[in-house]
Amino acid sequence: MEEVERIQTLAFNNQLKELPPQFIRPFNERPENTEAVEGVAVPLVSLSQPRRDLLVKEVAEAASQWGFFLVTGHGISPALIKQLQEVGEEFFALPPKEKEAYANDLSNGNFEGYGTKMTKNLEEKMEWVDYFFHMMAPSSKVNYHKWPKDPPSYREVTEEYKKEMLRLSDEILEVLSEGLELEKKSLKSSLGDEKIELEMKINMYPPCPQPQLALGVEPHTDMSALTLLLPNEVSGLQVWNNNNWVAVHYFPNAIFVHIGDQLEVLSNGKYKSVPHRSLVNKERTRMSWAVFIVPPPEAVIGPLPPLLNDHNAPKFSTKTYAEYRHRKFNKLPQ
Ligand code: SIN
Ligand code: FE2
Repeated sequence: MEEVERIQTLAFNNQLKELPPQFIRPFNERPENTEAVEGVAVPLVSLSQPRRDLLVKEVAEAASQWGFFLVTGHGISPALIKQLQEVGEEFFALPPKEKEAYANDLSNGNFEGYGTKMTKNLEEKMEWVDYFFHMMAPSSKVNYHKWPKDPPSYREVTEEYKKEMLRLSDEILEVLSEGLELEKKSLKSSLGDEKIELEMKINMYPPCPQPQLALGVEPHTDMSALTLLLPNEVSGLQVWNNNNWVAVHYFPNAIFVHIGDQLEVLSNGKYKSVPHRSLVNKERTRMSWAVFIVPPPEAVIGPLPPLLNDHNAPKFSTKTYAEYRHRKFNKLPQ
């Protein structure tokens, strides 16, 4: 396999003063020319809201109008959040050689491990981010050899966090089902019940010499059903709403919930898959822990029949998640 230049190595070793050309975005993609609107805040929902009807209304409105919201009152302990962040930071602080032992190899179908997105041609710009990706659930699809062995507590902490992600995603899917006036288990069952997969992606954005010209992650929607993201305290995520970028500020211990493509399809467009991007910082390292909640490859996903009638025709085609993913990766129409 070819040796890959890591963003972390580039950022920390070269005393870099200027952004290398392959990272300089075209004029109309640069953060300096596409600034976020002022004075608009993303929805914030507390899951400890005792009135179920109000909770369902708040979540359904956020999912329909934004495709994005922050949750608090989720019951995940701040101590576990801190531990998860520490083990991730410790992995990325290892010497390059130790991290390279986990290098992924997409050309051979090895998606799990340490990675940096490669560009396919000279016009395509690079993103200012390295990552670590691995499966987290169901256990039949987990290969612990692919998880970092260093720090030694990585596995135990991540297993604990997985349990919390299973609990939280179940809860959010129930509320979202009720928001569609469906039985509360409907969305989970359409997504494959116990076969639902959880994937972990740790994003690591080193300090960038000219952040106004670069992007950490370019605009996209997630192909998951839901993404539950935990950022560190360095802000950088922006979501697209009402024809503007809206900056999402750090909120201690909140989980950032993205509605992904599969829920947009199942809800026949009532819930929106949120376009988002991430910016980088001149002085500080930004990190985020994204957990993708996805159906198994063989699950057949399409607009849910109870939502369809004479006034609500299907807006999306029905296909397996494997087929959806193939089309999205290859930029083919859905
Ligand atoms: C992503 O959407 O891929 C990354 C989002 C983030 O780091 O906040
Ligand atoms: Fe994303």
